[in-house]
This record gives sequence, C-alpha cells and structure tokens, in this order.
Amino acid sequence: MSTAMSETSEDDNKLVGISLNEHLRESERLGEAVIGQMVEKEVQLMHQDGKGVGLTNPYGILLADELMESEWLYCLKEGRKWSLRRPKFFWTGKLRPHRVSPAREVPETILRPDYADTGFPESEVEADENWKPGVVPVKTEREIHGMREACKVAREVLDAATGTIKVGVTTDEIDRVVHETCVELGAYPSPLNYYNFPKSVCASVNEVVCHGIPDRRELEDGDIVNLDVTCYYKGFHGDLNETHCVGKHKVSEKHKRLIRTTYECLEHAIAIVRPGVWFRDIGAPITRHATKNNFSVVKDYCGHGIGELFHCAPTIPHYEKNKTLGVMQAGMTFTIEPMINEGSHKCVTWPDGWTAATKDGKRSAQFEHTLLCTESGAEVLTARTDKSTNFAWME
Ligand code: MF3
Ligand code: CO
Ligand code: CO
Repeated sequence: MSTAMSETSEDDNKLVGISLNEHLRESERLGEAVIGQMVEKEVQLMHQDGKGVGLTNPYGILLADELMESEWLYCLKEGRKWSLRRPKFFWTGKLRPHRVSPAREVPETILRPDYADTGFPESEVEADENWKPGVVPVKTEREIHGMREACKVAREVLDAATGTIKVGVTTDEIDRVVHETCVELGAYPSPLNYYNFPKSVCASVNEVVCHGIPDRRELEDGDIVNLDVTCYYKGFHGDLNETHCVGKHKVSEKHKRLIRTTYECLEHAIAIVRPGVWFRDIGAPITRHATKNNFSVVKDYCGHGIGELFHCAPTIPHYEKNKTLGVMQAGMTFTIEPMINEGSHKCVTWPDGWTAATKDGKRSAQFEHTLLCTESGAEVLTARTDKSTNFAWME
C-alpha cells in the first residue's frame, strides 16, 4: 500500500484523503480488477453524502464530473465486481464493452422473483436438485392462464424496446425503456439481478451471441442487435427475443440472410411441436436449415422450460444429435431460442462474465418464443401482434 492509502481510516467507509486520479494510479498498480471494489465504496459514499461534492465529503478532492462519470463502470465477474477501466482481453471482433449505468430500481409494489434481492434463484436451484431425469411438469389451467398473461406483457415490452432502435441510441437507453415499460405494466424485468445480471434486458450486438449487457455504446449504422426480454408478471415468466437491423441500408445482404435464416430456424422448430415429440428432436430442423445456408448452430446455450421459474426442465438444445430427455405433452411450456452464427459455432465469454461472443468475431443472430404445447401443436405465447415492428431484414 502506498502512503496515500495508509491514510484510510479504520472504518473504510469513511475518509480517503486522496484524489480520484491518485486512487486510480494506485488501483492500476494493484491490477485492474481491484479498482471495482474501491470505486464501489466511493460511489456508495457519494450517495450517502447528500451534501454534494467539493466540501467536507470524504472525497473532497473529487470533481463533480469525475463523480458522475465514476457511477458508470465496466462490469466484471458477472456483475459482482466493477471497474473504471476496460479490462484487457483478447476481443474476438471489433465490439468492445462500454461502461454500464448504475442499477435501476423496481418499486416495492411490484411482485419480485426470489433472486431480485439476493442475486441467487433459490427456487430454481432447488427444483434442479430435485429434478428426476426426463420429467417435465404439465401446467394447470391456472398456470397456463398466468403464462399467457406474462408472455403478452413481455411481447409488449419487446415491441416498445424495438421501437427505440436507431443509429446513435445506446443500449443503456433501450434498457431504460424496457425497465420503465415493465414497471408501467406491473412486471419485474426478469434479467435484473438474476445471478447478478446488472440490467433489465439482454442487448446483444453483432458478434455477441447472447447475454450482452446494456451499456453506453451508441448503436451504429449497419449493426444488428438482439433484444431479449423476459417479464415476471403475477408470478410467471414470459421470455422472447428478436434480432433487428440498425439503420436503413448498411446491414449487408449476408447479415440480413443470417437474421432471416435464424428466424426461419425458429419457425421450422415450432412446426414440429406437438404431444409425443422428443425435445431432443428440435435440433434437427434447426441444424438442417442453418447448414443449408452455410451457417452454424450455437451449442453452448439452449432453450428451457419456463413458468413460475425463469429456467427449468427441460433443456432444449438447438443442435442435432443431442441426448436431452423428455417428451412433449399438452400443457408444457418452454422456449425455443436458436442462436445461429455466420462462422464458427464456438463462443467465448467476456470478462464481464455474461457476454457470449463468437470465437471468430463473426456475427450471430437469435430469435426466441415461449411456447405452450397443445393437443394440436404449439401455441406461440409470445406471438407478434399487429402492433409489432416490421422486420427490415425481411425486405
Ligand atoms: N432471456 C434469456 C433466455 O432466453 C436469459 C437471460 S439471463 C440474464 O434464457 F441473466 F442474462 F438475463
Ligand atoms: Co430470453
Ligand atoms: Co429463454
């Protein structure tokens, strides 16, 4: 520790007699990951000090601008550590993480899932521990009604978010719209604090396969962006996602074809849903259609059962020749959400612990629906409505 650091009082929640810059230099010397813990403390202190900056607060030397800026941090360790500096990493493409805004609050009047306060989905883990191979619960009429409602809310939220996509808009701004629309509709945004995920929507740009964290990067003309919305409404989760183009002209024909193919993969998969079909067979039509178009199917992330829990049995791979257990029955609810890559199917995780990017830096697209298996096939609970935004990649 430097001499400056030794001035820290006993109670480390009080008094650090050095400037932000000194603080950062010291943090850098100690290694970047350490910065987050220190800054977290600073930010907390600033919030506690209602008197503002520049006077007798513990960081009297900090300027207002630096203070504001220090509230936006790079995410590390799945949202459990934060940093003022972008970590070093072998980024696979052109995209980089940007700084993430402070946490958004959900009013106490809105029903929260168990992980909302702890970051740990206890009920999911418990269900997983008690899971018997191949067993998939069949929903009651009451539960099916709940699922229809939650999925309708999620669709409305995704449509509102999609309406904000344009050149220059940050994914943080999209997150704000998702968050506020959820709250207006009386829903909790399911991603928020799920295993510490720091935001209310997943926003995955270009080479990001899934679980992109909304940040201050502005969308650029020619980007593609997937928005994955999940709403927890009256005790049930509804989960869906879509990939859209940014700007009118710059997305290449190949990338539009990637998006179109992915959409069609989901359609082909939904078409085989009916009682008696094995969950392991969903991967075949997806793989056939993707390979026919010279694209690849992501193996690291799967569809899932859904209901009162965000993720539960069954696990639904999108690739063929998998060994997942379970047979469809009327009354089961689950997602299908294929991720299709332009190049390699392989993924790498960014230092934020969430963002999955393609290993070769080429682009990836995804679509997701929550489905109910019925006697005659599939009911798409998150179906588009006449108010849903048109797909630019269809033209
Ligand atoms: N919505 C995603 C899915 O389709 C899960 C996101 S988990 C989060 O399963 F924590 F990243 F939000
Ligand atoms: Co989703
Ligand atoms: Co899902």
